[in-house]
Amino acid sequence: MIRAVTRRALDHGDTVTGVLHGWRGLIENTTRELTAADISGILPRGGTIVRTSRTNPFKVEGGLVRTLAALADLDALVVIGGEDTLGVAARLHAEHDAPVVGVPKTIDNDLSATDYTFGFDTALSIATEAIDRLHSTAESHDRVMVCEVMGRHAGWIALLSGMAGGADVVLIPEQPVSVEHACGLIERRHRRGKDFSIVVVSEGWELRYDSGETQLVSGAGADAFGHARLGGIGAVLAGEIEQRTGFETRVTQLGHVQRGGSPTAHDRVLATRFGLKAAELVFDGSFGQMAALRGNDIVAVPIADAVASLKTVPAELYAQAETLFG
Ligand code: F6P
Repeated sequence: MIRAVTRRALDHGDTVTGVLHGWRGLIENTTRELTAADISGILPRGGTIVRTSRTNPFKVEGGLVRTLAALADLDALVVIGGEDTLGVAARLHAEHDAPVVGVPKTIDNDLSATDYTFGFDTALSIATEAIDRLHSTAESHDRVMVCEVMGRHAGWIALLSGMAGGADVVLIPEQPVSVEHACGLIERRHRRGKDFSIVVVSEGWELRYDSGETQLVSGAGADAFGHARLGGIGAVLAGEIEQRTGFETRVTQLGHVQRGGSPTAHDRVLATRFGLKAAELVFDGSFGQMAALRGNDIVAVPIADAVASLKTVPAELYAQAETLFG
């Protein structure tokens, strides 16, 4: 993405400034010029050469004033991120007429107004490969293997990796499946002669019982945007499964492994196409717009539409996957 925007802008005769550490870079005025040499060879690299942070300029004292002051030195700002980062961009544009253009990037794939975000395909591939690998131990040791994946309040990574990897149960935040139901699926499978099961659980799935009792498993504190630090549901669920079914159960929490390493070819192409569109939007002065994927086309949509509501997994898609559970 950064490579595509920078190359187009340099060809256009512009100077490109990399803002370091996301919104924090504008608040602290930490920027550096990006030259052709800086973007050379970065296509296969994960992460970002301009670093990032979870900073909300509206929550930092004096943050908004400093952000607007830094923005005044720029002709345009290309904002790359998910609901939080782009939520700030939408507000800066709506309330301060900031010259921002958005690009949808998150492994969670939960932005509206675009079919896919970049980063998602890479995380999905890693999760699928992990599930494939977990099959070896599951089959050899007759175990239930629980794999916890990210996705916050959207179950895209869990459901699609579960479908791709042939999981026997997939638990996602959008679907109120109970522990008892999940255990029932595993038991049915074992009655049918299978000695192992794979369970994929999304970090944002609430532990839920038939009694109606629920529990969101999260760590201490919240991030700058008020999101609970998720993670840990897999271990709790594994304990429940083992205790209720009597089947030996192990857990793997993929965590940030899903966000690392070299991007897939699909993500590289998508990010490049988004970058080219973002450059075009900047050249046209189409601020407040975001590059989005619709079908196979890259189009412009208001950033505000992308962050208006979370794009969650549709019930029909879960229902399709569910026909192969248990
Ligand atoms: O939003 C992307 C995401 O990877 C979520 O899937 C996850 O809950 C969160 O970020 C993890 O955040 P951090 O890297 O701050 O722990």
